[in-house]
Amino acid sequence: MSRPKALIAFALLVTAYMLPVAFAQSTTLAATPPMGWNSWNHFAGKVSDADVRASADALVSSGMRDAGYIYVNIDDTWQGERDAQGVIHANSRFPDMKALSDYVHSKGLKIGIYSSPGPLTCAHYDGSYQHEEQDAKTYAEWGMDFLKYDLCGFREIMKKEAPNDPQKAFAMQKAAYEKMHKALLATGRPIVYSLCQYGWNDVWKWGTEVGGNLWRTTGDISDRYSRMAEIGFSQAGLAKFAGPGHWNDPDMLEVGNGGMTEDQYRQHMTLWVILAAPLLAGNDLSKMTPSTLALLTNKEVIAVDQDPLGKQGDRVSAVGPTEIWSKPLSNGAQAVGLFNRADTEETITFRPRDIGFAKGFKLRDLWQGKDLNVTGDSYTVTVPAYGAVLLKVSR
Ligand code: GLA
Repeated sequence: MSRPKALIAFALLVTAYMLPVAFAQSTTLAATPPMGWNSWNHFAGKVSDADVRASADALVSSGMRDAGYIYVNIDDTWQGERDAQGVIHANSRFPDMKALSDYVHSKGLKIGIYSSPGPLTCAHYDGSYQHEEQDAKTYAEWGMDFLKYDLCGFREIMKKEAPNDPQKAFAMQKAAYEKMHKALLATGRPIVYSLCQYGWNDVWKWGTEVGGNLWRTTGDISDRYSRMAEIGFSQAGLAKFAGPGHWNDPDMLEVGNGGMTEDQYRQHMTLWVILAAPLLAGNDLSKMTPSTLALLTNKEVIAVDQDPLGKQGDRVSAVGPTEIWSKPLSNGAQAVGLFNRADTEETITFRPRDIGFAKGFKLRDLWQGKDLNVTGDSYTVTVPAYGAVLLKVSR
């Protein structure tokens, strides 16, 4: 073999060896918490093809896609009838799912869909019960990249087949989630699998076992401060169950839906990034105020959520209405959230030594994108009513 030919053969050999590695890496699903948009919180049962296209357009034009919001997820109420062969079709609000999916993909985005292991979804549309393989295949043919699988109607089956037998009902539930996971795998298409069963049976302990990439840890969020805070602050202790490929999901974002003040939404966002929560915007993206966009797309804030170390944060302390939470980041840094749950402004003092930083630490305010000049061994700041400050501590 001539020298150049030998070199080419060698290069080909090396590439062939490296390909499976590159492939394996590119198929790591949800290596960081999934980001995107979901139709439910704003559009609920009215969502249409046009709304989904408009949302995809807005993700691009607003800069949200480039900030990491990639998934465009259609929630409940897209379903129509099953045909004689049992194949599910979308209803008239979604005339052509494949065309919609192609459109979303053409924008450099991914697309997601919703179903239930039960005969009916929460909004009483057709679920995947006894059609799991068939539905998974349909989703893959449409080009779906994400499935939210919502327990809902399956609770009736559990009640019927396991009355007064919580152990059996639990086993049935696990089997139902596993069944769809296997069906998704069988399609050969990487599809992020999102479990939605409201945190029942400590799902964080077995969500990974049934193939979940994320699992809801609570009942539904709403666009009210009290509900957001109730959910967000209840997540203490769950950090050890999250990591690359498998995340606790305290539900979708309400930022920009109008029911909270800017400070309350800032607290919502700060808490969610500290929790390494999936960031699925739930607002009408075609009508966003600059303040909503700024809350959703602050690069340094999102970097906390998406940090490649993939560790969820946890509570450090709670004193009256104020709380301090921290989240480990790459390179030994930590993000620290200072939260004020009161309706008056509060002063919060953070001591880096409480989370293992000796003298010589550096502090940065991430919402403001500003390094802080701290002289002593602590930092004291006034946090507005229902507000939050997000810091990064590094050495
Ligand atoms: C449940 C879920 C929500 C949403 C609705 C749709 O309530 O928890 O997130 O998907 O169903 O019907």
